[in-house]
Amino acid sequence: MHHSLFLLLVLLLPGTWADPEGSFTVRLLQISTFQNTSSVDTEGLGLLEDIELGALDKRTWNIHFYQPWVRPALPRSDWDTIENMIKIYLQKFSHLINDGASKRDVPYPFVVQCVAGCELYPNRTSRAFAYVGYNGQDFLSYDVDLGKWILYEDTDLARYVQATLQNYTAFSELVQVLFNDTCVDDMELLLQYGKAALARREPPVATVFARAPGPAQLLLVCRVTGFYPRPISVAWLRDGQEVLPGPALTTSAILPNADLTYQLRSVLAVNPGDGHSYTCRIRHCSLGTRSLLIPWGNSKAVLISGLVAALSAGVTVAAIVVLWVWRRRKYQKMEESEPRSSIVSNEA
Ligand SMILES: *[C@@H]1O[C@H](CO)[C@@H](O)[C@H](O)[C@H]1NC(C)=O
Ligand SMILES: *[C@@H]1O[C@H](CO)[C@@H](O)[C@H](O)[C@H]1NC(C)=O
Ligand SMILES: *[C@@H]1O[C@H](CO)[C@@H](O)[C@H](O)[C@H]1NC(C)=O
Ligand SMILES: *[C@@H]1O[C@H](CO)[C@@H](O)[C@H](O)[C@H]1NC(C)=O
Repeated sequence: MHHSLFLLLVLLLPGTWADPEGSFTVRLLQISTFQNTSSVDTEGLGLLEDIELGALDKRTWNIHFYQPWVRPALPRSDWDTIENMIKIYLQKFSHLINDGASKRDVPYPFVVQCVAGCELYPNRTSRAFAYVGYNGQDFLSYDVDLGKWILYEDTDLARYVQATLQNYTAFSELVQVLFNDTCVDDMELLLQYGKAALARREPPVATVFARAPGPAQLLLVCRVTGFYPRPISVAWLRDGQEVLPGPALTTSAILPNADLTYQLRSVLAVNPGDGHSYTCRIRHCSLGTRSLLIPWGNSKAVLISGLVAALSAGVTVAAIVVLWVWRRRKYQKMEESEPRSSIVSNEA
């Protein structure tokens, strides 16, 4: 269950994963679904960057750890305190929301999402943050410097919740203490204990193939998957020159796989038989300074006859012309024997 929640959040919050170089962010996520005044489902998840640290048990509100190094990072007494605070917080939260919903005639069911955490910068300063969403819309954010809740939209409901939170100083103090101080102190420990997980590198596996939506158009698809961490550069080269952004080039968002690797695809529209050579070029930190180059179509004759055959059969074509499977084992072997490979190029 937590995986679907995580994947959803990674999809919904793409911009928030682009930390400045050397920064680290801890996030606590909460999604509470209020079915009616007596039934609330709460899911909770803790993340260091995009690594799942642990989640709340939906029924007991105990913490389940997903990484073996998370529990040892903090003393037992800290976890007891955190677990107790979470339980008290969730109880008060439900009461507060149900109370407000009945006073303001808010229709059930509705969903409240909260994200809070802190970001530690390379200069060792930090920033705490807290956001609240209502039915999937931005609703309130907490300004740590002002100690105030800020409205996204000036609605009656938003102003009411803002006033309630402002009155409910215990909550604001909790945010201040937990995310200003505790979060940063704990993050230092998590970074030490989780060093290996944060340094994890998974090289991309890439495939180039073509689709022909019509006889006059060919779509070259470069599918890249299985890489970690998330930052990556994927480009198309036409006769060795990078194809600049334009209507012919479409690159998808970077999407998560279930095993905490990522994928994306880059599609280039070309005219069939235009005589150019096309290569997909991938750069990723797991490759060091080298690039992964996947050429398209060594043998055009095979492609064209394949297309004609498939089109005449009235079938949409998915012709895999170059299949390049990038395996860690191979990569390491290549690295040991210092390659002069046409696939992995040494670029400055
Ligand atoms: C509230 O919702 C739960 C779950 O949907 C349901 O089982 C329960 O009967 C509802 N209670 C009331 C008072 O409507
Ligand atoms: C530390 O770095 C952050 C992010 O780069 C910056 O916003 C902040 O002003 C810096 N603080 C100091 C004291 O240099
Ligand atoms: C939290 O951090 C902000 C900004 O650094 C600071 O203004 C505020 O006084 C801090 N609050 C607490 C309770 O430490
Ligand atoms: C906030 O507190 C003030 C003073 O105690 C009270 O008059 C007001 O009704 C409270 N507002 C809310 C939204 O709870």
